[in-house]
Amino acid sequence: MSHRLSRAVDTVLDRSVVGGYTKIGYRVRRATWDADDPRPHALRGKAAVVTGASSGLGKATAAALARLGAGVHLVVRDPAKGRDAVAEIRRDVPGAELHVHRCDVADLTSVRAFAAELRGAVERVDVLVHNAGTMPPERSETADGHELSYATHVLGPVLMTELLRPLLAAARTARVVVVSSGGMYAQRIPVDDPELEHGEYSGGAAYARTKRMQVALTPLMQERWAADGIAVHCMHPGWADTPGVLTSLPGFHKVMGPLLRDPAAGADTVVWLAATEPAPGGGQLWHDRAPRPDHYLPRTRDRGGEAERLWARVLDDLSLGSR
Ligand SMILES: NC(=O)c1ccc[n+]([C@@H]2O[C@H](COP(=O)([O-])OP(=O)(O)OC[C@H]3O[C@@H](n4cnc5c(N)ncnc54)[C@H](OP(=O)(O)O)[C@@H]3O)[C@@H](O)[C@H]2O)c1
Repeated sequence: MSHRLSRAVDTVLDRSVVGGYTKIGYRVRRATWDADDPRPHALRGKAAVVTGASSGLGKATAAALARLGAGVHLVVRDPAKGRDAVAEIRRDVPGAELHVHRCDVADLTSVRAFAAELRGAVERVDVLVHNAGTMPPERSETADGHELSYATHVLGPVLMTELLRPLLAAARTARVVVVSSGGMYAQRIPVDDPELEHGEYSGGAAYARTKRMQVALTPLMQERWAADGIAVHCMHPGWADTPGVLTSLPGFHKVMGPLLRDPAAGADTVVWLAATEPAPGGGQLWHDRAPRPDHYLPRTRDRGGEAERLWARVLDDLSLGSR
């Protein structure tokens, strides 16, 4: 397929949503990518950290990064589940260097403890994947008093990146990948209500709004950490068959089941962003190895300075300075 034709097909798939997000889109695009796969052992000697690595896309990401030679730190809230994931990955990647760390990314005390533990264990982090995700059935607050999806998708990842900054800087060209969701396309930044306190709470809306926050904040995170050689990428995986989708969206899983991607296909762009050369520019949203628009609907657009206001609020919630 010519480059121009494959770009046109890619765009049609993307705008059709179902075509692009399912395994159909992945298979059609995959056919054009072979030359673009990260080279074997691309991550040999490098250290990668993956949150939510006990299940679904996180486990698939950890396996793929290990296959490329990285030492992988699986960050999980249930260490027994983490050890099961390690055993499963080792069957697939014998000799993989894998470490399990307990951390609840929604709990800021737990994030601080994990960062201190990792700073004592390794000298650098080359890849940090913020994959842990949740769709709460009802509104709940963490021990720090933050709404759960905001804490899991925004506060925990920002704090963890900030606390691991010396390790990321030590890698000189570290890559941070934030796993968002195509569901965010339906939402705008809830800039006046980031804790989702007002109106009727819906787990699906809370999930999509906090996933929108991840996309909106990516350029600002990039700006904050760029001086240390850290690139921040955001991506969405399309629709993949994972325990999370089965549990949180059983109806969707039943209807779409045969068309869902496998977890490795959902994780493909995370791994590509982590390992491809030359390094992609930071601060953008990606899906299936291509930059994607942040918005399709005019009503979701930033009305001026909203991302910056949200960023100031996040830094304030975390008691972090503006630099
Ligand atoms: N699958 C899809 O089609 C799809 C589509 C769009 C976006 N995503 C995103 O992809 C990411 C992975 O989702 P998935 O589909 O693989 O779901 P999953 O199978 O439910 O995996 C989610 C992982 O996150 C972990 N996690 C949740 N809250 C955590 C916390 N507070 N601290 C630490 N770990 C936590 C879970 O740990 P436990 O094992 O302890 O529960 C689990 O390992 C999420 O960010 C999700 O929003 C997925």
